[in-house]
Amino acid sequence: MIPAIEAQGAHIPLIGLGTWDLRGRTCARVVEQALRLGYRHVDTAELYENEREVGEGVRASGVKRDEVFIVTKIWPSHFGPRELERAAKDSMVRLRLSEVDLLLLHWPNPQIPLSETLPALGKVKRMGLARHIGVSNFTVALIEEAVRLADEPLVCNQIEVHPLLDQSKVIAACRRHRMAIVAYSPIARGTLKDHQVLTRIGRAHGKTAAQASLRFLVQQGIAVIPRTSRIERLSENLAIFDFELSAAEMAEISRLASRDGRIVDYAYSGAPKWD
Ligand SMILES: NC(=O)c1ccc[n+]([C@@H]2O[C@H](COP(=O)([O-])OP(=O)(O)OC[C@H]3O[C@@H](n4cnc5c(N)ncnc54)[C@H](OP(=O)(O)O)[C@@H]3O)[C@@H](O)[C@H]2O)c1
Repeated sequence: MIPAIEAQGAHIPLIGLGTWDLRGRTCARVVEQALRLGYRHVDTAELYENEREVGEGVRASGVKRDEVFIVTKIWPSHFGPRELERAAKDSMVRLRLSEVDLLLLHWPNPQIPLSETLPALGKVKRMGLARHIGVSNFTVALIEEAVRLADEPLVCNQIEVHPLLDQSKVIAACRRHRMAIVAYSPIARGTLKDHQVLTRIGRAHGKTAAQASLRFLVQQGIAVIPRTSRIERLSENLAIFDFELSAAEMAEISRLASRDGRIVDYAYSGAPKWD
């Protein structure tokens, strides 16, 4: 059983499967296998053009719907109230679900005021299309604004987090508002697999550098959503709950972080970059 973090009534399994860039049969097969291996959390988005295959993979796994935490995201061009409702319904059709467990705003969109988008997101929740709602790629200032404007709890901010990136300010803001932190690119797009410090620390526990990176995050109560297209790596990434990093190891990994360690250097159409 995978541990979960609790945030304002949402129970988010600490590890999920990322699916960006997984398409077609590969995507459905990886999702099915992940669930058979014990994953209970799957991350997709309308942007990824794989919601259909994610839904197929979930059904093919035979795991009961209420045992899987399914997350999708609305693309910022759909943040106008009417478009948001339409986009959420379209996602449910593609996933062949009546509701997702968590529906996120994918990136901030400075062209559409949050005072319009957040009530629309709350409404979509009350319509029964999402059990919980949240945001992604929100900065400290945007978190503060969103929390003030939301009429339903925002349970999560999905952001880039891994050992090379210092996200302490935004993490503190999420904690202040009891929002779960879900780390995307948690092994820095695979680049951490040969990292010297992580390899050494992992080896001391009979683990890989990727596992040390994921463990470093979950041990802080941060959920991780690593993506892989390889079945053998699904098991590797899941095997992070049977060892513990020492305080000294946690501190050593923390020292690898810098403010410019970001990989996903993207901002939607003029959205503020980072604090
Ligand atoms: N909210 C957002 O704006 C946002 C942005 C980016 C990503 N995300 C989400 O977060 C998920 C994860 O982030 P990500 O895909 O950017 O990066 P990631 O999970 O850090 O890294 C994925 C890469 O690492 C490799 N990999 C996976 N497990 C490995 C292991 N144990 N050892 C060595 N290499 C390994 C994979 O290659 P193989 O396939 O060859 O294993 C893949 O190339 C995405 O899929 C998506 O669902 C969200």
